Amino acid sequence: MTQNTGAFEALLQEDRTYPPPAEFVANANIADPAVYEEARRDPEAFWARFAGELDWFKPWDTVLDWSDAPFAKWFVGGKLNAAYNCIDRHLDGPRKNKAAIIWEGEPGDWQVYTYRDLYREVCKFANGLKSLGVEKGDRVTLYLPMVPELAIAMLACARIGAPHSIVFGGFSAESLRDRIEDSQSKVMITADGGWRRGGIIPLKQSADASIEGETPVEKVVVVKRTGHDVPIVEGRDVWWHDLVADQPLNCEPEQMDSEDMLFMLYTSGTTGKPKGIVHTTGGYMTGTYATSKWIFDLKEDDVYWCTADIGWVTGHSYIIYGPLSNGATTVMYEGSPDYPDRDRFWAIVEKYACTICYTAPTAIRTFMRWGEEYPNRHDMSSLRLLGSVGEPINPEAWVWYWQHIGGGRCPVVDTWWQTETGAVMISPLPGITTLKPGSATQPFPGIDAAILDEQGNEIGPGGGGYLVVRKPWPSMLRGIYGDPERFVQQYWSNYEGIYFTSDGAKLDEESYFWLLGRVDDVINVSAHRISTMEVESALVDNLKVAEAACIGRTHEVKGQAIVAFVTLKDQVAGSDDVIAELKQHVAGKIGSMARPDDIYFAAELPKTRSGKIMRRLLRDVAEGRALGDTTTLADPAVVEMLKEQYGDED
Ligand code: WTA
Repeated sequence: MTQNTGAFEALLQEDRTYPPPAEFVANANIADPAVYEEARRDPEAFWARFAGELDWFKPWDTVLDWSDAPFAKWFVGGKLNAAYNCIDRHLDGPRKNKAAIIWEGEPGDWQVYTYRDLYREVCKFANGLKSLGVEKGDRVTLYLPMVPELAIAMLACARIGAPHSIVFGGFSAESLRDRIEDSQSKVMITADGGWRRGGIIPLKQSADASIEGETPVEKVVVVKRTGHDVPIVEGRDVWWHDLVADQPLNCEPEQMDSEDMLFMLYTSGTTGKPKGIVHTTGGYMTGTYATSKWIFDLKEDDVYWCTADIGWVTGHSYIIYGPLSNGATTVMYEGSPDYPDRDRFWAIVEKYACTICYTAPTAIRTFMRWGEEYPNRHDMSSLRLLGSVGEPINPEAWVWYWQHIGGGRCPVVDTWWQTETGAVMISPLPGITTLKPGSATQPFPGIDAAILDEQGNEIGPGGGGYLVVRKPWPSMLRGIYGDPERFVQQYWSNYEGIYFTSDGAKLDEESYFWLLGRVDDVINVSAHRISTMEVESALVDNLKVAEAACIGRTHEVKGQAIVAFVTLKDQVAGSDDVIAELKQHVAGKIGSMARPDDIYFAAELPKTRSGKIMRRLLRDVAEGRALGDTTTLADPAVVEMLKEQYGDED
């Protein structure tokens, strides 16, 4: 069913347990296990209680309208504004001068924005956007490094009701172009560049290339970050600092319907075309607010750091909307974890006395490989809670994180969720749950997650199958932008009326969930979702390539690595130069995170009689199971041999 089953059999032998520390329980936002039963009995009432902790201009009439399933409506009739909930409502009391965002740039520059500062900056930029003609409902593309302007621009969009579409700065010009066209954004916000490992990522260059020729983009706002020379197109481009210079300091927040779109965010699916996942206002804010409060146990004096990039959903929900709606202090860091040295993260923890750190297993495995000497250089006694997200965490990495980063005192919350789910779905509650390294433990209260077999029968303790969600939840995606059929087909057609996650999972004897990875053609590389189809189409776009097939192989640090099997055109011979060229080609087409680790040449790709590429066989080859340490697969006889060994699968 899933590619990693072998490794995870071993994982299920894991029997270490970590009950919540007494001191943590005594102070936790939630420590009463009765909440699970309460939420199970009446999930709508459970969610409505959290929604009621947000500020609404107009209360809702109906909590959930599921009559047009799978198109859900939450908090129907209610009106609110996400930016108001993240900023304005904290300005009346003592939070006014509290740090909302602590930002650190890679070169070592840093800035603190209080809630009042953030209010002013967001209002000024919101007025700036309006002056460019942006109106409620208009999509705005953000293509920025991790600078404060990214947070400000998001919240400004939310304030005026213009959905943002954030494109991660690592994406290529071409990927950016696709996303701009699909969203039909009239305005793009970018920067001259961003700092990464001491060098400049030339964002403006890609931004310019993405809108050459015909484009919906009329105006480009440019943040001056690196200060190097960039071309400015007269009449189209405007510097951020010029745009905000004379703007009024206040901007009335738009009263948004609960179901108005807050943002869209592209993610990879099984086809080559990325999907614009749509999130709306009331439900998304309720989900991110609730999960931040209970899973990250946010307190008034916490300094909370999520190391993700805002270009991914984790950054949307758990750097910005979740923490800020809770009135927390959230840390943003621009650069790489090994610049200027491999202790950069821990230097940041010490410098700002971070209390909570939320990162990805791939980062933890990297730190593990670098060794304890780097965290040991710093006083990290401020930490009290750790989080993990993006991919399954192996028990060794979990225990290392717990021991060497958390000093053996901090619970580790392994949070399972997706761009589509908007907020965390399966996770410990740190004041309640006894932890098991490698398990995301239990569905969040109010979330009806289950494991089903092919036929839709529920799998009980001790079994494995497909992870699904049976009841709607507030922060669920409302659709794929412009493609309602694909939405229904992709998520709701495997089982009638049930959300299909595309993840495999097992339940242990105590009904703890153990995530097994994707069951579709999505590869999870360093916690980034990449579709095999996207990489394959990038490869065949190269003139030397006749055919390509990609798979993910297990990788010690990245979780999975991309392996491409390529058939070259007749007159082309495979060589190291061609390998280098093809890797570069994919990076140029999609972005460097999609660069294949290995490229194998094959005279022919192994296919079933019906013409389907036999990926499982290719995975065996790539992971050395069939052929040992073969680096180049050139001989069709080898493929024949593999075919014989594994037989055709249809
Ligand atoms: C995987 C990231 C195991 C999973 C928030 C999912 C995880 C995909 C975990 C979504 C976890 C995320 N344990 N697997 N704690 N968190 N995943 O949309 O395969 O970038 O389907 O959202 O990441 O990736 P996405």
